[in-house]
Amino acid sequence: MTTNLTLGFDVYGTLIDTHGVVVELEKYIGDLAPCFSQIWREKQLEYTFRRGLMEQYQPFGVCTKDALEYTNLILSCGLDEQQKSTLIQCYSTLPAFDDAIAGLEQAKAAGFTLFAFSNGQEAAVNQVLENAGISKYFTGTVSVDDLKTFKPNPAVYEYFVKKTHADKSSAWLVSSNGFDVIGAVSAGMKAAWVHRSTSVVYDPWGIQPTLTVSSLDGLSKVLT
Ligand code: LAC
Repeated sequence: MTTNLTLGFDVYGTLIDTHGVVVELEKYIGDLAPCFSQIWREKQLEYTFRRGLMEQYQPFGVCTKDALEYTNLILSCGLDEQQKSTLIQCYSTLPAFDDAIAGLEQAKAAGFTLFAFSNGQEAAVNQVLENAGISKYFTGTVSVDDLKTFKPNPAVYEYFVKKTHADKSSAWLVSSNGFDVIGAVSAGMKAAWVHRSTSVVYDPWGIQPTLTVSSLDGLSKVLT
C-alpha cells in the first residue's frame, strides 16, 4: 500500500472513550453507572439515525442531551439539572483510549495525513481532542454538521473525501463503530475497523471492513 493515505479518524467511540462518563455517574447512581452509560450512548446514536432519516437535523450535542434525558427517565434515576449539566460538561473532557496516542504517533511518522471525522460539531470535537491531548496530530476536523445530516448517510463520506482533497482510493475511515465502517465502505471509501473487544460483534450485513485491527497501536504497520 502507499504512504500517501488520508485517514479520517472517527472520534466518539474510536479515539475518545464515551464511557468515560461512568466515573461521574458512579457518584450519583453507583453500580447502575455502566448500564446508564451504555443506554445513553446507544440512544444518542439512535437519535442521530432517526434525525437523519426524518430530515430533522439538530446538532450532535442535542442528540446527546436528549439521550441523557431519555436514559434518566427509563432508568428512573432522578438526576437533577445540576447533575445532568455536569454530565454534559464531562462530554468535553472525555479521555482518549489508551492506544490512541501510540496509533496517532505511528500514523504521523508513516507520513499519513490525519483528520478527525465526526458527527460532532467542529468546535466540540476540537475541544475534546485538545482536552484529551491528541489534537496536535490532526491536519483538521471534518464535521457532518456542515451537511446537516449524520453518519452513515453516504453524503458525509463523499464530503470527507472532497473536503480533504483526498483520492477516494487513498481515503480511509478508521472507526470502532461498525455502522460507520459499513457506511464508509458502502460509499466507496476504505475502512479499518478497530475491534478492541471481542464482546463487540460486527453487523452481519455482508459488507466487510477493508481491514480489521484490534488496536490503533499497530494500524499504520498494516496500512504501509
Ligand atoms: C462520531 C460518532 C460516530 O464521532 O460517535 O462520529
